[in-house]
Amino acid sequence: MSAPNKSYDPVEVEALKPEEIERMRDEALAAIAGAADLDALAHVKTAHSGGTSPLALANREIGALPPHAKAEAGKRVGQARGAVNQALAARQAELEADRDARVLIEEAVDVTLPYDRVPAGARHPLTTLSERIEDVFVAMGYEVAEGPEVEAEWFNFDALNFPPDHPARETQDTFFVQGADGADQSGVVLRTHTSPVQIRALLERELPVYVIAPGRVYRSDELDATHTPVFAQVELLAVDEGLTMADLKGTLDHMVVSLFGEGMKTRLRPNHFPFTEPSAEMDMVCYVCRGESVGNPDRPCRTCSSEGWIELGGCGMVNPKVLIACGVDPQKYSGFAFGFGIERLLMFRHSVEDMRDIVEGDVRFTLPFGMEI
Ligand code: DAH
Repeated sequence: MSAPNKSYDPVEVEALKPEEIERMRDEALAAIAGAADLDALAHVKTAHSGGTSPLALANREIGALPPHAKAEAGKRVGQARGAVNQALAARQAELEADRDARVLIEEAVDVTLPYDRVPAGARHPLTTLSERIEDVFVAMGYEVAEGPEVEAEWFNFDALNFPPDHPARETQDTFFVQGADGADQSGVVLRTHTSPVQIRALLERELPVYVIAPGRVYRSDELDATHTPVFAQVELLAVDEGLTMADLKGTLDHMVVSLFGEGMKTRLRPNHFPFTEPSAEMDMVCYVCRGESVGNPDRPCRTCSSEGWIELGGCGMVNPKVLIACGVDPQKYSGFAFGFGIERLLMFRHSVEDMRDIVEGDVRFTLPFGMEI
C-alpha cells in the first residue's frame, strides 16, 4: 500500500484507474453470470467480492490517497463493488429459484400412478378354517395347545397305547428321524398325528384339561389328488370328573352346527384306536343335501355320493391307560378326545377336488378365499 502523498493522483495509481476498475467489475459480472450453480457462485463470490478480491484490494489503496482524491476514487470503487454485490444477490436468487423448481420436479410424487402394483395376498384357507374351529372351542372355554412336529416316539405312540408292533409304526406310515450317528433308531419321528399333544397337555397342565390342538402332521404318502405327506389335523381333548360319551356327542354336534349351520348333526360308528376306549368314527350329516339324497335317485348328491353322511375323523373316551401314562387317576377322571384332518373338511366345504391345490401354495388358489381373518 502506498504512503500518503499530497500530489498523489488516483488516476495514476494503477489499481484505481477508471478503466482498471471497470475491467475488475466487468470480470466479476461475467464470472457471476457464468456461475452455473450455487456452489460455483459461492466461489465467484469469494474471488470477486471477498476480502482479497481485486476490488477489495483496490479499495484499500484509497486510504493512501490525499483527501481531495479520496472521494472520487471511493465513489468509483464503491459503485463497482455495489454493482458486483447486486449482481451476486440477483444471481443467487435466480439459482435458488432454479434449484427449488428442479427439486419440485425431481421429487414430485405422481399421485396418478397405480399404488397397488404389488397385489395383496390372501391367507391360506387351511389357516382360516383351522382358526375357525379353534374359535368354536375357545368360545366354550377350551385353550389352544401346541406340540412339536418333530416328536419323541414315546409321545407319538407309546404313551398313546400303541403296542410296539403296531402297524402304524411301520415305515410306510411314519417318517423316522435318523440319529446324529446315522442310527435308524433315534426314538424321534415326524409326528404322524396331533394326538401326542394330548399327552403333552395332560403332563403340562393342571386338571381339568380342555384343549384344542391344531397342527401339521406327516406320513410317508405320495402327493396325489387325495393324499399328501404333510397335512393338517385338529385334536381335541377334555379330561374332567364325570365326562361321558354324551358330552363327546354334544360337543361334536355343537361343532358341526357352528361350522356348517343349524340342523347339522353327527353320528358315531364303532371303530378302534389304541388311545380311546370305546372308540368311534364320527360322521356328520352331508351339509349339501342334508341327507335328502339318500334313496332318492331324483336328487343325487355328489358331495356325499348320496350316502347322506360325510366321514370326519376319529373320537372316543380317553383310554384309562393313556390317563395312567400321564399320571392321571382314571378312577377320578375321565375324558373324551377327537381328531380329524382339515384338508378333507376344506375339500368338502369349498368343493376342492385335488389335494395338490391345497398344498402347492399357488396364489391363484388362495386368492378367491380373500383376506378372511
Ligand atoms: N389320531 C388319529 C389319526 O390320526 C385320529 C383320532 C382318532 C384322534 C381318535 C383322536 C381320537 O383324538 O380319539 O388317525
